[in-house]
Amino acid sequence: MCGIVGYVGLQLASEIILDGLSRLEYRGYDSAGIAVISEKGLLELRREVGKLRNLVKDVMTNPLKGNIGIGHTRWATHGRPTVFNAHPHSDESGKIVVVHNGIIENYMALKEELKKKYEFKSDTDTEVLAHLIKDNYSGDLYKAVHKALQKVHGAYAICVIHADHPDYMVAAKNSSPLIIGIGEGENFVASDVPAILNYTRDIIYLEDGEIAVVSAEKADVYNLAGEKLSKKVSKISWNIASAEKGGYEHFMLKEIHEQPSSVAHALAGRASDADGKLYLDDLGITAEYLNTVKRITILACGTSYYAGLVGKYYLEKLARIPVDVDLASEFRYREPFVDDKTLVIGISQSGETADTLAAIKMVKELGAKTIGILNVMGSAISRETTGNMYIHCGPEIGVASTKAFTSTIVCMYMLSLYFGQLNGTINAEEIRKNIVELKTLPNIIEKVFDIEPAIKVIANKLANYKHCLFLGRNYNFPIALEGALKLKELSYIHAEGYAAGEMKHGPIALIDKDMPVISIATESATYEKVISNMKEVKARDAIAIALATEGDTALKEEVDHIMYLPRVKEELSPIVNVVPLQLLAYYVSLRKGCDVDQPRNLAKSVTVE
Ligand code: F6R
Repeated sequence: MCGIVGYVGLQLASEIILDGLSRLEYRGYDSAGIAVISEKGLLELRREVGKLRNLVKDVMTNPLKGNIGIGHTRWATHGRPTVFNAHPHSDESGKIVVVHNGIIENYMALKEELKKKYEFKSDTDTEVLAHLIKDNYSGDLYKAVHKALQKVHGAYAICVIHADHPDYMVAAKNSSPLIIGIGEGENFVASDVPAILNYTRDIIYLEDGEIAVVSAEKADVYNLAGEKLSKKVSKISWNIASAEKGGYEHFMLKEIHEQPSSVAHALAGRASDADGKLYLDDLGITAEYLNTVKRITILACGTSYYAGLVGKYYLEKLARIPVDVDLASEFRYREPFVDDKTLVIGISQSGETADTLAAIKMVKELGAKTIGILNVMGSAISRETTGNMYIHCGPEIGVASTKAFTSTIVCMYMLSLYFGQLNGTINAEEIRKNIVELKTLPNIIEKVFDIEPAIKVIANKLANYKHCLFLGRNYNFPIALEGALKLKELSYIHAEGYAAGEMKHGPIALIDKDMPVISIATESATYEKVISNMKEVKARDAIAIALATEGDTALKEEVDHIMYLPRVKEELSPIVNVVPLQLLAYYVSLRKGCDVDQPRNLAKSVTVE
């Protein structure tokens, strides 16, 4: 979503802030802004609509001098992407400026009150904070922020500076991520680690309800009661280079190609084919506890939800426990059946998705044990759950999720084998065979890239259509859903995923020459049935495209285009089959000239409802 960077030290603040924002741009990109306190103690504010480069150009033309400042990239929630709605927002005097991620839920009521005294210039909830801090200011910025936040409900990560206090920033967090970077004679505030990795690896993670006063020399953190806290400084081990494009045209293409290694990382150290055992003890799930579990509920959103659907097939087959998979946004507003015999698995690449986080908090209250399947260590969800299994796929920068999806499915498979191992529903020899199969995945995925040229040809044709239907069955039904999601979000072609067996129950009415149909027809127990669907599609003059297992020459007669994929055990086929669908969406998007890494209206982590 939005990105925050703050700096105080001896260097030119604008340079560091703009560099940091460029690493966060994927979090929000409809406008950007920066505010710096000049050597003369004046606060200078610049804001631009559009990509960050517009702001960079402005600052290059007319440099900002000063050693303290804050910056922001915005993804609009309250008010259209305009200069006035871009952050930072200032109070009437122009001395206080605020950047904010999240949503102030009671901003309307606060605005009504504050409007009696102050003139509002934007439609945002954030501007309320600027006036509210001013309203509580009597010479001490920390106290003003502290008091102001007592009146605020909602999610926020904020960073505030005041022209009369050019030596420190005040940062605070509730439900939205915020970190402090510790340097030598300089300190940083950011919403995400990559923003400041060029400058420091020493990070303090702020917790909900904490407020920090950050100067060049130190960062003091207080709780809501105003008590000074002693905070741990964590060392970041990963490299900034791993968050850059590495020679690929887009992050998404790089991330698709990283899947052989990201899948290998997910497996590393957890699955031993020598002794046929899964090593996931750090999850803290014991055989005694698992015996008490009556059902598993998987909660997630978007692509992570589809990974959860695949997980249901695995858990029910291998661990023999009933599984529900729910969209977190639906679940949290129902009265779901959850108790201490329910194990809840929250899946989230970012670990920050507002609905998944809220749903996890809710089930904790109801007595359930919770596990996170996550990519980002230290993320909000990771701090709520009983145990976490990290997918270890490295930073995913492309807004459309790819490598996190395959790594999550691999983790769901390992988790299912592990539960089967704990409750004895699968014997050691079967587990060993499954581990051996799992370990072939990196090589198998690598082979999929051999058909990239053929995928490009199909993509160029598909780019001329307005609609597309994806069909899959069993383990590959969620892959039909994911294939459709990738196509629609990247190329803006209307796409739907369907369980192939449902075609006759409605969607067949849509099929004509203008509706290409992509069927997942790789080797499976339901192969023959999917072929019947393809015949029905062809009989209605639609373009039929199939994913097939290499060597399946018979299918050639039934369809217009085939993507041949290496043979893999049916259970693991979703992990392989999704790769050509990711590439297909990528190349259609490229052909149509769309913004591959930052599709319109989307954000990488949806930290608001
Ligand atoms: C689609 C996509 C989204 C995310 C969803 C959940 O390509 O990336 O659908 O999967 O917003 O995000 P996480 O996994 O971060 O909770």
